[in-house]
Amino acid sequence: MTFSTKYNTINDENINEMVKAFYTKVLEEDNSVSKVFKDKLGDDINSELWQEHIETLTKFWAMIALQDDAYKGSPLAPHFALPLKKEMFGEWLMMFFVLIDSMYEEKQATLFKTRAEDIAKNFMRVLDL
Ligand code: HEM
Repeated sequence: MTFSTKYNTINDENINEMVKAFYTKVLEEDNSVSKVFKDKLGDDINSELWQEHIETLTKFWAMIALQDDAYKGSPLAPHFALPLKKEMFGEWLMMFFVLIDSMYEEKQATLFKTRAEDIAKNFMRVLDL
């Protein structure tokens, strides 16, 4: 997806748009990250499972970027049950960075990218990858 004007503020609405665009892109890809998502949640972004995931991830990023307190989950927990490999985190970050750079101005993009990279590193450390 391309955005003619990049966002220079972060709000709930554009976070939701970003999350939808990210997972739409994940489902369009044919790589090891997209395989994990398709095996776990299916390939229909409109399904109940996917809608739940998008809602959860919208709250998650609102907590990170806006200090919103609606996210009540445990970000790492479901990843223990997934067949994750170290390389997948590189793939995930690459897809995320491209999408973020297409949607947000540099200042906002840097916030998302820095936090995503820190979280990915933390996940890899805890998952022993
Ligand atoms: C190796 C790349 C990754 C893959 C394949 C992956 C896959 C998944 C899948 C399939 C789920 C849904 C699990 C379920 O509903 O049972 C999930 C949940 C989630 N993922 Fe990831 N993930 C990856 C990396 C990341 C990264 C880097 C972040 C954060 C920056 C992240 C944040 C989350 C969060 C917040 C949830 C929801 C947790 C909850 O249930 O509250 N993931 N992930």
